[in-house]
Amino acid sequence: MFSKEAGPIGIFDSGYGGLTIFDKIREQMPEYDFIYLGDNARAPYGSRSFDVVYRFTRQAVIKLFEEGCQLVILACNTASAKALRSIQQIDLPQLDPERRVLGVIRPTVEIIPEITSSGHVGILGTAGTIHSHSYSIEIGRMFPAVQVTGEACPMWVPLVENEEFDSPGADYFVEKHLTHILSVDPMIDTLVLGCTHYPLLEDKIKQFLPEHVRVFSQGERVAESLKEYLVRHPEMDRKLTKEGRSRFLTTESAEKFSEAATIFLHYPVQVEQVAVD
Ligand code: DGL
Repeated sequence: MFSKEAGPIGIFDSGYGGLTIFDKIREQMPEYDFIYLGDNARAPYGSRSFDVVYRFTRQAVIKLFEEGCQLVILACNTASAKALRSIQQIDLPQLDPERRVLGVIRPTVEIIPEITSSGHVGILGTAGTIHSHSYSIEIGRMFPAVQVTGEACPMWVPLVENEEFDSPGADYFVEKHLTHILSVDPMIDTLVLGCTHYPLLEDKIKQFLPEHVRVFSQGERVAESLKEYLVRHPEMDRKLTKEGRSRFLTTESAEKFSEAATIFLHYPVQVEQVAVD
């Protein structure tokens, strides 16, 4: 059904947020080709149910397969939390057992012991990610001694999408959630930005944190983990084209995407509008 030829790495996000991951991956792997797909027409995913996030993510993955991607990264915590397992276990064996779909939660969880001294971490994410308990389940499985507290920050994605990084509204909603999570567990010494939009609020977040609390953005770690994966899986690496090219696809207006993408990437990009359903 799909082409067996080598192709680009697919990077999927509900919208723009995954560009913070794409940016770090491309920085570390500039020779590879990439196709970024943002489902902007149906974003945000953060408040959507399991079934809907799974259905939308599955459609996006199939689109990236049709575009020739042998490997797809779900650069969206909400999609990784709610759709990754079903796609890996139910869909891949039927669609093409040789293709791979990877998420962003596992690579982040793997280095938790390296980023906390107190053994108490906080996860900041969308309501979907936090209420799925994906981080606490995964951390509990790998590092049962680590205490995990999740905080859903539903207004942070809209703040970023509307470029309200440094407004009184951002002050209010950022402080509100940081105060709350640190009151739930005052021993937290690391806050994981478990949503791809949040690195754009990192400066604001740091303004409201005591000095001993560290903020962890996952982009670099996801890029490192992908490189390590390709070393362990040379058979997949051989299926990836390497001409240093990137394409950007969106399900919404191409013009709107290319304007917004400059906030995340700081350089202009050419964008194509596509349908995935
Ligand atoms: N990119 C999504 C994430 O990392 C957040 C945006 C959304 O709600 O669609 O969870």
